[in-house]
Amino acid sequence: MVVSTPIKKLDIQVILRKYQKKDFKRIVELDKEAQINQRQSKIDLLTDAKITKVSPKNGGLFIVVEVDKEVVGMGAMKRIDTKTCELEYVRVTPKYQGMGIGTIIIQKIESHAAKLHYGRIKCFTCQARKFYEKLGYAYIGEKKYSDGPCDSIMEKKV
Ligand SMILES: CC(C)(COP(=O)(O)OP(=O)(O)OC[C@H]1O[C@@H](n2cnc3c(N)ncnc32)[C@H](O)[C@@H]1OP(=O)(O)O)[C@@H](O)C(=O)NCCC(=O)NCCS
Repeated sequence: MVVSTPIKKLDIQVILRKYQKKDFKRIVELDKEAQINQRQSKIDLLTDAKITKVSPKNGGLFIVVEVDKEVVGMGAMKRIDTKTCELEYVRVTPKYQGMGIGTIIIQKIESHAAKLHYGRIKCFTCQARKFYEKLGYAYIGEKKYSDGPCDSIMEKKV
């Protein structure tokens, strides 16, 4: 899967493709660049084991977005059960935020989730609730952490 698509606020094409092993170093950097808060920077370090959980063999998907051969965005989908999947590692590097790349990532994951017959997509977010609401996700509750702020739990039917 390689898709070349224009984005709304940037006069160039972006490449949307599946994660490859050679991307590992860059996506760890990207994860840090877009880190949301201290708690997440401690517990959410990307590892090979976490990437395996979102691999196609486990009912998942991991995609990256390239601009000028540099990975500037990513997003993944993890299988929870036969009907439910979860968005993970949705990140766009600050320089490219607000240009439509996050939207393209979510749309690609949603269409893949539909192909795999998932009925709903969930996600947890601390500061991007409005982003998900714009994409049709509904707020369904809070996940509380002992060491930091709450995450909003968001959900959308596929
Ligand atoms: C959240 C994130 C993935 C969005 O990606 P993006 O490429 O910036 O998003 P888009 O440009 O597609 O934005 C779509 C809409 O959502 C809005 N939006 C994006 N991020 C937002 C945020 N954090 N809060 C409120 N609104 C936001 C945009 O303004 C835009 O609105 P518009 O269509 O009226 O212009 C990106 O900003 C990011 O990586 N943030 C840091 C990490 C993060 O919060 N990840 C979310 C998972 S917890």
